Amino acid sequence: MILDRRRFMQLAGVGTAAAVGLQVPTLGASLAAAEVNPGDTFSLGVASGDPLPNGVVLWTRLAPDPLALDGHGGMAEEPVKVRWEVSKDESFRHAVRRGVELADPESGHAVHAEVSGLAPGRDYYYRFIANGETSPVGRTRTAPPRGAKLDKLTFAFASCQSWAGGRYAAYRAMAEEDLDLVVHLGDYVYERSDTTTLTDFRLLHALYKTSPDLRAAHAAFPFVVVFDDHDVDNDWAGDVSQDNEPVESFLARRAAAFRAYYEHLPLRRAQLPVGPDMRIHRRVTYGRLVEFNVLDTRQYRDDQVGKGFPSGPRDPRTLDPARTLTGDAQEGWLLDGLQSSKSRWNVIAQQTMMAQLDYDPGPAQSINSDQWDGYVPARDRILAALGKGGPANPVVLSGDWHSSFVNDLKRDFVDPASETVATEFVGTSISSGCGWRGAVEAALSANPHIRFFNGTYRGYVRCNVTPDSWRSDYRVVSSAADPTGPAATLTAWRVLNGRPGAQPVDGLTVTGVQVPVLEAGRPGAVTVSLTNQTRKNVDVEVRVIVPSRWAATGAKVSLAPGESTSVQAPVTPPGPQPSTADLDVRVLAAGTEVFGPPLTQQAVAVPASDSAVVSLDAGAATGPVQPGFTLLSPADTWSAEKGYGWVGSPLPGSRDRSGPDDLRRDFTLGRGPATTLRLAVPAGPHRAWLLTGDASFDAANTIVRIDGQVVAQSGPIPAGDFVWIEVPLDGGTDGQPVDLQLTGDQGDGYWRLVALSMTQ
Ligand SMILES: [Fe+2]
Repeated sequence: MILDRRRFMQLAGVGTAAAVGLQVPTLGASLAAAEVNPGDTFSLGVASGDPLPNGVVLWTRLAPDPLALDGHGGMAEEPVKVRWEVSKDESFRHAVRRGVELADPESGHAVHAEVSGLAPGRDYYYRFIANGETSPVGRTRTAPPRGAKLDKLTFAFASCQSWAGGRYAAYRAMAEEDLDLVVHLGDYVYERSDTTTLTDFRLLHALYKTSPDLRAAHAAFPFVVVFDDHDVDNDWAGDVSQDNEPVESFLARRAAAFRAYYEHLPLRRAQLPVGPDMRIHRRVTYGRLVEFNVLDTRQYRDDQVGKGFPSGPRDPRTLDPARTLTGDAQEGWLLDGLQSSKSRWNVIAQQTMMAQLDYDPGPAQSINSDQWDGYVPARDRILAALGKGGPANPVVLSGDWHSSFVNDLKRDFVDPASETVATEFVGTSISSGCGWRGAVEAALSANPHIRFFNGTYRGYVRCNVTPDSWRSDYRVVSSAADPTGPAATLTAWRVLNGRPGAQPVDGLTVTGVQVPVLEAGRPGAVTVSLTNQTRKNVDVEVRVIVPSRWAATGAKVSLAPGESTSVQAPVTPPGPQPSTADLDVRVLAAGTEVFGPPLTQQAVAVPASDSAVVSLDAGAATGPVQPGFTLLSPADTWSAEKGYGWVGSPLPGSRDRSGPDDLRRDFTLGRGPATTLRLAVPAGPHRAWLLTGDASFDAANTIVRIDGQVVAQSGPIPAGDFVWIEVPLDGGTDGQPVDLQLTGDQGDGYWRLVALSMTQ
């Protein structure tokens, strides 16, 4: 079993290969511990989707061993009859519909039951029965009657759930909402360059479904899903892969990816892929209140032109009217549908950002050519159709860019005075990181139609729609990896019927809390970023609650209407020894706690710099280094001159989680036989302080031995937390080298070294 899991890690390592590397080892441990029950036929959960007034599609996939390496989920090569039941009540005393579907091995024993004959606008419960087992109970809700005058629709939209980014605080929070529907805009899974076959993609989907929080969200609400690039290949376009592999081989990969996507999601038979083709653009209608036009902006697009990540100079070909993002047929379908719609709100639910985002604050233009900016005439054709005389109240929903935006969509983005034709809400990611946050922040002044931006927080957007107004609440979590943390509203925006363009809902928004690496015994500060979205002056108080021996003084500031500012709240860690502490940041407006993200953050204090003999920031050779520290990369073998370095073999590896700061983001690690780090210890007793932990994953127990004797260990550490471990060192009478032997146990078995400081 253990060998199997290791092999599986290789298959299913996640994220872009270059950025993240092999990380799934952690998964083996956490899976074995709790996330799925071995032998449970319904280990991947249940789901429903694409509501109609008279029915929904119900989904499950039989997989008693979901990560079995052959991709068969532990099922034999034979079809299985699966019964399903739909009831008005959770106890199934009043089952209103029953049926049987055949789960066959060719489709991975996936089940898609299209149920009809239900009443409109109602909650129903459903379950499956197979192999003598009954599935968990799911809840779903049908759409209201066609043409009905609906007074309210509440739904959420989400995207981008990289496994490596931390699972899945946002889904746990979402599952607690009361929603009619969830719209998922893609990047449901993240492929790797070696995810190529149907088996590979099945294992990837099964891996993601081992998250109980993802399963809970599916079991709570019907989903309308559409893929984006990572569901197949980063930045793919039509039949062109990112790396321009031969078309035939890419189409085979696309076919495998589509099939696994279909097998794991509640899609109707109309979306069943045929080879490398899958018709996924479609409409979902809620009475006369909301119509969703769900777009596919990958399968029919022309290939990207020019350098585009995160931005590059505009290539003139991006202005070529012959190039398309949607394909001509889908564009015609969209424009026809918008023109004939009778809905009060007309939604275009799609992937990449539609608003222009010029990354160059100067006169030149720098764009991301993967987004609508790379297909300007195609965008202009749609925006023209949305303008005067077009459908009522167009709203665009977007994902892909792992950050929150509220945008006014302009007829001419270069002219701020031009007509605002629609509002675009770009939802942040469920878990995927936003390495380009700084690039966007630096560009905001050149993009006045961007009314709000935040790249710090992960989450989803909750939308409350009535005939008179649309309200989007950006629901965020403090850590994607901490499923126990609460969610809060980062910011809320409203669109009024007949008035395109978003208006902030009154409130004080906390857009960021940053706790820098602190120094023991020295004053530092927590930075809290605030925006006053009210029409009044607001007096704000920031309080930092610290543990004993830490000191903190609050800060006060007064914000004018519309003003954004950053407040520094002083904190001083105890000295001179290093420490960590959870800081609880409270923001009060006129004495009352305001809405904002959950604000508990861990602070790390490094040893006072004047007490440190040497301070090493462990990590990749190319990674950023904490000021005052010296890089310790896997390539730093022992040198008496430097006074530190790795000895013998194995040498360590490194990982980079791209946050939260230069010290904590990257680290060295190893597994199996001990890795030896040699330190030149000056005469007399000294101490080594080793910082261990992992921003994204649960960390195993890191153990330090000297001469084979355990001298310190960290114990397992939850994702996002860091711990200092103290190692006594003896420099003898003249100073001498001391070898620290590093091993890991429990969890994924990796020792991790984030930083090391030697003090007297
Ligand atoms: Fe993404």
